[in-house]
Amino acid sequence: MEYLLKSGDVAGLKTACLVVGVYERGELSQPAADLDQASGGALGNFLKRGDFQGRAEQAQFLYDLPNTACDRLLLVGLGPRKALNLNAYRKAVAKATVMLDNSHALEAITTLPLIEIDNNSLYTRLRDTVTISEASLYRFEQCKSNVDKRVRPLKKLALHIGQQRRTKVLENAILHGRSIATGVTLARNLGNLPGNICTPAYLAEQARAIGRKSRQLKVQVLEEKQMQELGMGALLSVSRGSRQPAKLIVMEYRGSAENAKPVVLVGKGLTFDAGGISIKPAAGMDEMKYDMCGGASVLGAMAACVEMALPINLVGVIPSSENLPDGDANKPGDIVTSMSGQTIEVLNTDAEGRLILCDALTYSERFTPAAIIDIATLTGACVIALGAHASGLLGNDDKLVEELLTAGRESGDRAWQLPLWEDYQSQLDSNFADMANVGGRSAGTVTAACFLSRFTKKMKWAHLDIAGTAWKTGLEKGSTGRPVPLLVQFLLNRCGLGG
Ligand code: BES
Ligand code: MN
Ligand code: ZN
Repeated sequence: MEYLLKSGDVAGLKTACLVVGVYERGELSQPAADLDQASGGALGNFLKRGDFQGRAEQAQFLYDLPNTACDRLLLVGLGPRKALNLNAYRKAVAKATVMLDNSHALEAITTLPLIEIDNNSLYTRLRDTVTISEASLYRFEQCKSNVDKRVRPLKKLALHIGQQRRTKVLENAILHGRSIATGVTLARNLGNLPGNICTPAYLAEQARAIGRKSRQLKVQVLEEKQMQELGMGALLSVSRGSRQPAKLIVMEYRGSAENAKPVVLVGKGLTFDAGGISIKPAAGMDEMKYDMCGGASVLGAMAACVEMALPINLVGVIPSSENLPDGDANKPGDIVTSMSGQTIEVLNTDAEGRLILCDALTYSERFTPAAIIDIATLTGACVIALGAHASGLLGNDDKLVEELLTAGRESGDRAWQLPLWEDYQSQLDSNFADMANVGGRSAGTVTAACFLSRFTKKMKWAHLDIAGTAWKTGLEKGSTGRPVPLLVQFLLNRCGLGG
């Protein structure tokens, strides 16, 4: 869809549909009040009938409003004025977009970004409007043979900015919103694709495709033979049980000076996790196709970065493999040697994410990162701790952790910190190797991060556990594209462009 900025007087806006917000109990937002005045009180009279009360999630078309230039009006409920936060705003935007898409209108103008909310800027509201509109129109239909053709879908949405002039910051809001949406959509598509299509080789091809879009981005895919030469015994021990060869995808984006240290993103790209010999129960195992969502979020963030041509150096590293039971698979008790030289006793073959990540983290030392962030659907324990609302966040650098928490709040893609105290480390003690790959039932998310921390001592590092946030289960089963918004916000903030 196309998005643009529009300024001018609301009553004079010529469009197939004008979107205005109304608070609960019919209280008018400023643009709605302007329309009411222009129409000689007609809008207020309609609201007095009581059919539309401005409740959140309510929306209604209205026709033939006197003295206005629009063909129709879409009233969108904002809920109580006092309770309107960015979250409620996003819901109103999503509702409006779906209503518009199902209407006869091909284009529309929305005044929702003009509604002021505590602690955020017009930039944020404009950007969010674009990202949320795109997300609310998302459908995954690649694997369906019969798809309903949409009748007159929405093609163009203009965002009204009142009487203000367009500025670079406001234009950027649209570009940034669209780029985040590109990244989110890519991550969602890759997540939703089944394991037989989205294999390590498929992910590698997606990375190459992004590389072809920008001369600033160099993509390299390491094969198992090269991983062998590098001594990646942990990563290779996981892929040995699979017929799909593992890939180590390395993407280097240069938007800043050659000697500027890069941000490195490392994403778990496990394209299907059956658990290996420590096999998972059958129920819900299909959802382990989503075990590559960390990798997909790195591809998404990279695609967004390329689209915005951000002035930053960024490296994406995606270790990609399957985890299956096989005669050649890891067995409980096997001891493998990681690229770092540290040995690992594989007590549970289902704790495979940390095995592929640890070698990717060691490999990443060569980039001398300004900061390194890994993103992984790493532990079921994180779903128990935080549910679907916050990603788990742990790290060895307080400033980096704080930056990520802030980026999460600003982008509506929140994370919550868990402790990475030394006290937990002993849970990984092994009688036979340098460490075990599991730390028992208690604090599973923390001990997984403790494991990774042993491979990131030389770097400013943070870890995002997205096991609960990367996809939804149940009736709404599907990928969310998280934490692409958080990651992109983090990068924008580092560039001083985050609003
Ligand atoms: N990919 C899973 C984590 C996971 C499980 C994410 C369920 C989302 C929902 C990971 O590879 C795994 O299996 N982790 C084990 C670790 C355990 C063996 C220490 C887990 O969480 O059960
Ligand atoms: Mn597993
Ligand atoms: Zn896994």
